[in-house]
Amino acid sequence: MAPIEYGKRDEGKGPETYRSQSLLDTIFKATGLENFKGSAVFVDLMSGPGGIALNLQKKAPQHSYAVLDNDKDQLKKIGEQEPVRKILADVRCLSVIVEDGSIDVATVRYGLKDIPKNQQPIALSGINYALKPGGVLVIADMVSPEGAREWNIMQHSRKQQFSGRNIKEEGECYIPTEAEWLKMLREAGFEPEIFDHYKSLVTTTDWVKGKQITDDQRMQMDAFILSAPENIKKEFNIRQEGQDVKIDYPVIIIKAVKKEAKSCLPNEGVLYETK
Ligand SMILES: C[S@@+](CC[C@H](N)C(=O)[O-])C[C@H]1O[C@@H](n2cnc3c(N)ncnc32)[C@H](O)[C@@H]1O
Repeated sequence: MAPIEYGKRDEGKGPETYRSQSLLDTIFKATGLENFKGSAVFVDLMSGPGGIALNLQKKAPQHSYAVLDNDKDQLKKIGEQEPVRKILADVRCLSVIVEDGSIDVATVRYGLKDIPKNQQPIALSGINYALKPGGVLVIADMVSPEGAREWNIMQHSRKQQFSGRNIKEEGECYIPTEAEWLKMLREAGFEPEIFDHYKSLVTTTDWVKGKQITDDQRMQMDAFILSAPENIKKEFNIRQEGQDVKIDYPVIIIKAVKKEAKSCLPNEGVLYETK
């Protein structure tokens, strides 16, 4: 099975969260770009088609904007006329791509949870390296409720495997709990704070419309989601409305300030670019 071909996705038709202005506004607030003195160097990591950078650039055009993704088809979705630098690279080898302490603000939305558990600290270590002292990392990502982590990971992994992820070769996604997010960030040299919470309201047909899975696979996902234990159904507000199966995913927005420079963990992943 081929890896997930993110470039084939149609984010404009997929889950609403990718178009949510309120989530973008919260991310913008958390970055501090509005009141940043001077011109900041900003990079959106695992950027996909650049929704965050393009939105923030309009709000605060005085800064310099870059996006980084390891899927060239995702980056191609960003028009050449857009005022953002595109970097084709693996987030797990940031320390060989960018200079030490060269970034003021970084964001990563719905990205880190796709990196296997043992490699998430590697990605954070590279981000710590790339940020200036006092630099800011804003994470907007899924979070597992305590007691529902295994189910949350299982359902997300199942959908990703339908999308083409080979977990034997790429490893499995991992959706930390709030406490795990904070611990991992502290261990990577950050001072994290929970900036906000948000719910991503998904109807499983959104995944079909967004070209993440086929309609047959959606029916299998529906069966799996609807067979969840009662406590899980309550936690994720799982419900069926007519033909639609709906689920509300908890999302966390974390603002993490680089507190100390940690030595880099060994890189993982594919190298596309050098500094
Ligand atoms: C779920 S999408 C989120 C896209 C974007 N952050 C957003 O919120 O619209 C995950 C993105 O991460 C990218 N990605 C996955 N693994 C990566 C890696 N190791 N390094 C860089 N990008 C990666 C994928 O190509 C994809 O565009």
